[in-house]
Amino acid sequence: MTNTIRYDRGADGIVTLTLDDPTQSANTMNRAYAASMSAVLDRLEAESDLVGVIVTSAKSTFFAGGDLPEMIRATRADAPDLAALLGTIKRDLRRLETLGRPVVAAVNGSALGGGLEIALACHHRIALDAPGSRLGLPEVTLGLLPGAGGVTRTVRMLGLAGALTTVLLTGRRMRPTDALAAGIVNEVVATPTELLDRARAWIAANPQPKQPWDRPDYRMPGGTPASRSLAAQLPAFPATLRKQLKGARLPAPEAILAAAVEGAQVDLETALTVETRHLIGLLTGQVAKNMIGAFFFDLKAVNGGAARPADVDAPPVRRVAVLGAGMMGAGIAYACASAGLDVVVKDVTPEAAGRAREHAERLLARAVRKGRKTEADARAVLDRITTTDQADALAGCDAVIEAVFEDPALKQQVFAEVLPVLAPDALLASNTSTLPITGLAAGVDRPADFIGMHFFSPVDRMPLLEIVVGEGTGDVALARAFDLGRRIGKTPIVVNDGRGFFTSRVIGRFIDEAVGMVAEGVPAASVEQAALQAGYPTGPLALADEVSLTLIQRIRRQFEAASEEFRPLPAHRLVDELVDAYDRPGRAAGRGFYSYDDGNRGRLWSGLADLTTDAGRAVPFTDLQERMLFAEALDALRCLDEGVLRTETDANIGSIFGIGFPAWTGGVIRYVRQYAGGPAGFAARATELADRYGDRFTPPADLVDRLAASADRPAEPAGVA
Ligand code: NAI
Repeated sequence: MTNTIRYDRGADGIVTLTLDDPTQSANTMNRAYAASMSAVLDRLEAESDLVGVIVTSAKSTFFAGGDLPEMIRATRADAPDLAALLGTIKRDLRRLETLGRPVVAAVNGSALGGGLEIALACHHRIALDAPGSRLGLPEVTLGLLPGAGGVTRTVRMLGLAGALTTVLLTGRRMRPTDALAAGIVNEVVATPTELLDRARAWIAANPQPKQPWDRPDYRMPGGTPASRSLAAQLPAFPATLRKQLKGARLPAPEAILAAAVEGAQVDLETALTVETRHLIGLLTGQVAKNMIGAFFFDLKAVNGGAARPADVDAPPVRRVAVLGAGMMGAGIAYACASAGLDVVVKDVTPEAAGRAREHAERLLARAVRKGRKTEADARAVLDRITTTDQADALAGCDAVIEAVFEDPALKQQVFAEVLPVLAPDALLASNTSTLPITGLAAGVDRPADFIGMHFFSPVDRMPLLEIVVGEGTGDVALARAFDLGRRIGKTPIVVNDGRGFFTSRVIGRFIDEAVGMVAEGVPAASVEQAALQAGYPTGPLALADEVSLTLIQRIRRQFEAASEEFRPLPAHRLVDELVDAYDRPGRAAGRGFYSYDDGNRGRLWSGLADLTTDAGRAVPFTDLQERMLFAEALDALRCLDEGVLRTETDANIGSIFGIGFPAWTGGVIRYVRQYAGGPAGFAARATELADRYGDRFTPPADLVDRLAASADRPAEPAGVA
């Protein structure tokens, strides 16, 4: 098995362990690591005159964390296998901390998950304040818990309350200075030389250290749960937990809480076993599998280019024209410039165009303040953005991304204006959120180069890019758009054309269903709460305000004018009343479903109840939640049926990363597959909802057969059986 740890004994009797897996760009906690660490411990224990140990890494990150594919493989084959592996890893970390000689972690870069767990088993932790370096235990965000001693040691180091709220339940990735403030590391240094010098100095000053919990006078900070003070605090934990989860009941935080509380009442060895048991429970549970499926396998398939036409030689884009310097255009310009592309942004006046640079300046200033970018890097990004109101200034651009108002005539006009000055084979992309691409392409003489590149707001933070292929779009345009998306760090799903494509269409069903329930007389607060407790990141009414009710109204009217399939819904009437009769157009105006007069937070508008038909109507809470989840899932199934969606993977990734479908489901189609009773159970429940609330819930007749005939996930990456 590959040796992943270098062992160097210096003349001073200090052994430096350098984590350096030669087969990977980052160190991970896998079988090779476990075997190497065991061998290292055998050697260390046999050393005579050992003075101390420094644990560091040869990679730019210290250690990346658990090896997910390997962990999954271990759970599939048989769980005891995984328990044995975790047992070895933990036993050796315990051997390290009870070596009787000082062990210092010289954390030279990010230490997340397993990486931080190794550091926690050292007697002293020094972190280098490298740009971008992060420390934390993000397992909770993957539906897992830190199972290599992370729960057990942080609880003993920070106390139960401290460990749960600062690291374990938040999954926070902290900068070194924040980790210092949180008590996770003991020192932060500025240079690699200092890192090693300080490590040696600490070893010299502490010849026979013990972990605090191995000292006879050890008391857990804040007391153990058996003590009065903590017992008094305990009932508060579930409430804190719920608040952090916005009410969703997810197994990982609950398992972390249980492992922490149970572990705090027993000795360290037993606590480590308790932790393993909870981790295995999570790993073999459905939620973790879903999350890992979405966050790991699906993402890997999507980002790896499953949807990019193979063998298409697509000239890379170097200079991008962005039309419109509004919210989206400015965000797109910043994303492109950050990835090293030259960008020219055009708007109707120099001042309007200048907003793109102002936006970039704001984001860059923040990045510099937070240590994510150096001043020089920030300056270089800004220098790549030029702004103009003149079409001539776009000369030579080999791609254009249009982000002017959502108006088909205007969009066609701006393309006509800039086409003559662009490179002759320039990629022509529109960021429209709803307008069919085929229709927009009809206005240019090169429909093969025309494509939809639908970004999400805020562009700098939202990972998804929905690439929309029109009837005439060629493979080269698709490949170029895909490559451009990857270049700027986005996860690109590829869908076929249609009104609202996949994401805007399906999120529209979510908003319609939620607003419809309010129109029926369900209290607005119950609708919001139901969504949050189902795991949506934002309530649908807050979301509608954010999007703006005027925009929702305009999009629906375009649909009404363009399609015979349009059906009026109670939700439409309510939105019209809010906008037209009560002048409540949404968040930007300070009033929509919420009133935003008390700063940012907003309170639901008290006048809403007067606009609904049957005030206070009781709909079972589960129905409230499932009407929203099913409205989206059924429409996603229709998208698959109609060929708007090409794969289930795109649906799963697009739904979580673009439109906030609850992440615990692993995506909108996994939700259908894994509903209690499988697709058949989903179909039965949909039929029930259809009987109660309308035929929009009627499931596709062949749902069960169709899902049975297709795979539920892309091929797994190589190396994962
Ligand atoms: P916005 O209203 O913030 O910005 C539009 C910009 O286009 C304005 O700066 C305006 O001056 C400029 N503009 C108008 N006519 C122009 C012309 N002839 N030449 C150059 N610039 C011109 O709009 P926003 O929100 O940025 O949306 C832009 C597009 O992106 C729309 O098609 C929208 O549907 C789409 N979109 C919006 C999302 C959102 O969350 N707001 C998400 C994804 C797509």
